[in-house]
Amino acid sequence: MELNFLYKGKSIKIASATDKEASLLLYWWNDGEIMAHAGFPLGVNTSLEKVKQNISKNNETRQLLIIYCDNLPIGEMNFEIKNNMAQFGIKICNKDFQNNGYGVAILNELFSYLFETKNVDKIECDTNLKNIRSQYVYEKKLNMKRVKTFYNSCVNQIGEKCSATVFEITKNDYMNYKTKRDNKN
Ligand SMILES: CC(C)(COP(=O)(O)OP(=O)(O)OC[C@H]1O[C@@H](n2cnc3c(N)ncnc32)[C@H](O)[C@@H]1OP(=O)(O)O)[C@@H](O)C(=O)NCCC(=O)NCCS
Repeated sequence: MELNFLYKGKSIKIASATDKEASLLLYWWNDGEIMAHAGFPLGVNTSLEKVKQNISKNNETRQLLIIYCDNLPIGEMNFEIKNNMAQFGIKICNKDFQNNGYGVAILNELFSYLFETKNVDKIECDTNLKNIRSQYVYEKKLNMKRVKTFYNSCVNQIGEKCSATVFEITKNDYMNYKTKRDNKN
């Protein structure tokens, strides 16, 4: 799949990962700084072979995606659809591209795609309770609802306890929010 849109004059592309991006994904996933938010402060220590296996699982309901800004790969995103519900994850790996509005713009594009093209009823994601930025983005910028928090539900790679918070948004709520937002602009 491929989604293309303009954001602040930049050309954003969200496209299915291919073997061509395997070594870049390997570099990102093995980097502890990039992966700390997901519980892997030392990186996931994966291999090129395993990354390629992951890429090969892309299909109609499950996608590992690369995010490009003006042809430069800046991060990755994924979704999986089960029983009309989509779960997603996003990582803008190039720090220079964080906090510039790209994340919100990209997720709005993904939500529209999932609700309008894939016809899912609900989108869900979870994040580390310490990840204040992502919670702000999900709740305040994308109108998702905080559903539950699992306190001390996991232990990260270096033995620290962590808590996970789940967010969701229904198709109705997103479409109403999108209409209101578009009418304002
Ligand atoms: C989370 C992520 C997708 C957000 O995308 P982004 O492009 O960086 O975010 P945006 O610029 O679109 O929006 C960030 C918003 O959060 C705010 N923000 C930034 N840091 C913040 C913080 N520490 N606390 C609260 N809000 C914060 C910004 O001010 C901005 O809001 P505003 O537009 O109202 O000012 C991106 O930063 C990322 O991939 N981070 C690394 C991986 C990650 O955390 N993934 C999500 C885990 S599930």
